[in-house]
Amino acid sequence: MNRITVFPDKRLHALGDLYGIFFEDINHAADGGLYAEMVRNRSFEFDRIDNYSYDHLTGWEKAGGGEFKIWVESVHPINENNLNYLAIDVAAGEGGVRNRGFNGKMPIKKGEEYIFSFYARRVKNFKSDVRITLVSAENGEKAGEASLKITGCDWKKYEGVIKAEKSLPCALEIVAEGEGRIYFDEISLFPKRTFKGRKNGMREDIALMLKELGPKFMRFPGGCLVHDGSLDKNARDSLYRWKNTIGGVEKRPARRNNWGYNQTLGLGFYEYFLFCEDIGAKPLPVLPGAYNPHRKDAVPLDELDEWVEDALDLIEFARGGENTKYGKIRAELGHKEPFGLEYIAIGNEEVGDEFFERYPYFHKAIKEKYPDIKIIGTSGPFPCGGEFEKGWRSARENGTDIVDEHYYVSPEWFLANYDRYFNYDKTGPKVFLGEYASWGNTLYNALCEAVYMTALEKSGTVALACYAPLLANSAYVNWRPDLIWFDEKSVFGSANYYVQKLFMAHQGKYEVLCENESEDETDVLSFAPNGTIELETVNTKARFYDLKIDGEAFEVSESEKDGRRVYKSDALEKKRESFVLEMKAEEIEGIRGFTIKFGMSENIYYRWEIGGWQNQDSVLCSHINGRESVLAHELKSVERGREYDIRLEVCGNAVECFIDGVKIHSVKILPAVIRPIYTAASVEEDKVYIKAVNIKGTPRLCEIETNCDIRSAEAEVLTGEPQDMNSFEEKEKVSPKALEISFSGSVVKAQMPPMSLCVITVKR
Ligand code: AHR
Repeated sequence: MNRITVFPDKRLHALGDLYGIFFEDINHAADGGLYAEMVRNRSFEFDRIDNYSYDHLTGWEKAGGGEFKIWVESVHPINENNLNYLAIDVAAGEGGVRNRGFNGKMPIKKGEEYIFSFYARRVKNFKSDVRITLVSAENGEKAGEASLKITGCDWKKYEGVIKAEKSLPCALEIVAEGEGRIYFDEISLFPKRTFKGRKNGMREDIALMLKELGPKFMRFPGGCLVHDGSLDKNARDSLYRWKNTIGGVEKRPARRNNWGYNQTLGLGFYEYFLFCEDIGAKPLPVLPGAYNPHRKDAVPLDELDEWVEDALDLIEFARGGENTKYGKIRAELGHKEPFGLEYIAIGNEEVGDEFFERYPYFHKAIKEKYPDIKIIGTSGPFPCGGEFEKGWRSARENGTDIVDEHYYVSPEWFLANYDRYFNYDKTGPKVFLGEYASWGNTLYNALCEAVYMTALEKSGTVALACYAPLLANSAYVNWRPDLIWFDEKSVFGSANYYVQKLFMAHQGKYEVLCENESEDETDVLSFAPNGTIELETVNTKARFYDLKIDGEAFEVSESEKDGRRVYKSDALEKKRESFVLEMKAEEIEGIRGFTIKFGMSENIYYRWEIGGWQNQDSVLCSHINGRESVLAHELKSVERGREYDIRLEVCGNAVECFIDGVKIHSVKILPAVIRPIYTAASVEEDKVYIKAVNIKGTPRLCEIETNCDIRSAEAEVLTGEPQDMNSFEEKEKVSPKALEISFSGSVVKAQMPPMSLCVITVKR
């Protein structure tokens, strides 16, 4: 049994805006996702620069049985940002185009209205009607139709509404009959029913899933999307520049999305702010810090002004009155009242001195003009290491309010690092856990995250936290796991989604003291390395020599498969717990450095890679059940033809790594500690929320002294088998259900199922 004591009047700290969401256009989260546009490649701007398989007609096919030709040209564009357009030349009969949307079909629903629009012009002799049809792409059955005449030889916008007479998976067809040439651009189809009925709006079902989470803030628009691209804002593959994303959608330049597709920017900064308002979340925009860490491109310091101005202008766009330049632009776009803005982030997990050299310019300028804005700095993509420390150092030196930390790790990492934020300095900058997830969408993953969230809440050092990534179109997966999955017609939340939802709905205003005693033992899962060793290179040829383990010399033999070279020896095959491996290594050809795998057993191994990711880092990782966690990280490149003296010392759970006699990593591998139960409690008005997580395989009776007169008490539980997951077929297999509990006086009794998160709401 667990005895839990809550002290509702012993407030520990305010919880503020703790739980929010992070929106990045990854996995087609925006185009083909939240953004309700149904036409793929609406302005014929898809290009090989976005994705090698694209051309300007990607997403389009010929429709109509006549004699006709289609092509894309850019001689007389609708504007200078939207160069390509479609030409249809009909010689006889019917000719036109068909678009099947992002997932092969558009889910047209009977009784719903669909707004089509396009820009068009014609050559003089083209007089016949253009037919716009929602038609089954399989059997020609029609769900609805409209027709109109292209009236002139200059570009003009045409718009109409089709009411669907049938529910059908459709394509949009635009077909003309006659003789002559017509041109089209920006061919668009939106359901009239968007979230809150907004024009150029959001897909209602996905938006509702987000709103129902109840996030306190939304971080946008990325992620790597923000800082990966050309520094030239006019380049086709520019970094994400917010000023490119406002105004008429036909004037927004098409851009490469760094996740390997095209982004229309139809969901731009105005829409982001509006959406935040619509779901009741505070906007948290992220701007690039004039540095692209992927290409190591930095804006010269004497050209930084424009980038700093972008940040100041964005704040004005969000907060300024109509009498300011950007406040006026916002008002003209339709939002007279300021949106409000409390947070702004500069940079997203940048590594490298160039970023930290530039950050202070942004910081100083923003604080001078807007002293109350909370500025968020970054500490790189990993939970530790030299660049992580650099991020925190920069924050302390500059007076950054909050530091953004990111990590994707094994579920066991969350258990092992439960205490992480209790040890942070309460007087320093606060933490924004801006991206985190355990690798997986099972209930077990979600519960390990729930355990960690109880600690985030109790720490008093974490100000903001959001799971990542948020959305995934199942036909375009760049990254998994994700919080919410969808296709063209349906959407479901993962087990992790329901954990987030329970925590958000029961966040509370203040964290209060909550003590937790158990008669049961805490289980400790040790992950100290114990296994064989392997040397490896990926797409690289290397030479390993002067090898010794614990002073005994040996040699290795090399074999190669699919670009991966493995270097073996009997000495490496032996299972070892503590050892010293010494060797010399030289890269002969290739693109990366060397990898030493050690502690290799059935489900676990450790990996020290020197010259990893773009030959930039030295990284030490654990791999538990195939899930990677970064345990140490430093910048380090390998030079071809140079000899490296490498030494790995493993002693129990202590791992030390040396290159040329210099210690580069020193790590104590933490065990995963499984406590009988994890709890957190908070209050809001007359409510007391108690969250309890049981990640053991046995049920647990909890007796909770709430120290208040209970008027009512109810509970929700998320439980199931550890490997349970939601899917399109079983959308709510893992979802909260009511849990029966009892109460009397000030005491609540709850029987927690094995593998469960329970959230109890007590009214006093
Ligand atoms: O969330 C996916 C990616 O992970 C983000 O774009 C980036 O910030 C991180 O590396």
